[in-house]
Amino acid sequence: MQRQISEADYRDFQRFLEEASGILLGENRHYLVASRLHRLLEECGLPSVGDLLVRLRREGRGELYNRTVDAMTTNETLWFRDIHPYEMLKDVILPEFVRGEARRLAVWSAACATGQEPYSISMVVEEFLSNHPRALPNGVSILATDISGRVLDEARRGVYDAVTLARGLSPERRERFMRPVTTKTGQAWEIRPEVRSRVTFREINLIQPLIGIGRFDILFCRNILIYFSSDLKRTLLSRLHGALNPKGYLILGASESIAGVSDHFTMVHAGRSVMYRALPPRITPR
Ligand SMILES: C[S@@+](CC[C@H](N)C(=O)[O-])C[C@H]1O[C@@H](n2cnc3c(N)ncnc32)[C@H](O)[C@@H]1O
Repeated sequence: MQRQISEADYRDFQRFLEEASGILLGENRHYLVASRLHRLLEECGLPSVGDLLVRLRREGRGELYNRTVDAMTTNETLWFRDIHPYEMLKDVILPEFVRGEARRLAVWSAACATGQEPYSISMVVEEFLSNHPRALPNGVSILATDISGRVLDEARRGVYDAVTLARGLSPERRERFMRPVTTKTGQAWEIRPEVRSRVTFREINLIQPLIGIGRFDILFCRNILIYFSSDLKRTLLSRLHGALNPKGYLILGASESIAGVSDHFTMVHAGRSVMYRALPPRITPR
């Protein structure tokens, strides 16, 4: 049975979650909080969300803190989500960098959930490079990050069941880029090394300053800004701009936009899709 949450505990939990992850809970999501935290409370022997908050205050950042944030993340994802970004990558972005004689490219999949996004990018790169064998001689590296250690473990493992694969991966791509494996729960498919090897996974909380992350040419930051406040979006977009090479591309989710939030980018239309290109940093007059 799920526990009731008092109004005061709900408010405190809203504040905790926004401070920890940027995720805005909104009003009347008591049921969501109760259902997402149910198992954690059971496992930790905590009678209520109020008791969880007391322990979080006492213990600070640690295992319970991470598990609480983790339980509240929405990790919905699929292969080649919305398809258009991946077509843009293949038809517009990669050819343009190759025409500009780029020797290597760095891609970042921020908020990568269980890995379908970075692996879909890697599959497109693999297809592109097999059609253009002399392109990008120093290769393409993909950094895949998320706040949740749990989803990153799954992503790193790179093993998916048939139901997960059916969500967006064509049988042709499955045959080419995955190999069958037997797991404890039955038949599954594993990402092949040529797709896996260019992807590195790392835990990164996007609300914290991006220190030592490097510079990227292409940044997928999809279906995460929707959870954040306008102020946080503004700060994050400015940091993402700082992590892009000059003229680097930013690709957002289908329902996300930077309109009225950031002037660091210019919008580029390609087919039925939109992407954003980093503008040069502004020079402030003395
Ligand atoms: C809805 S999924 C999007 C996955 C993928 N980008 C896509 O579009 O299919 C959102 C992901 O954002 C992650 N997330 C939530 N808050 C975050 C934060 N502050 N920093 C980094 N990742 C975060 C969640 O753990 C979750 O895996």
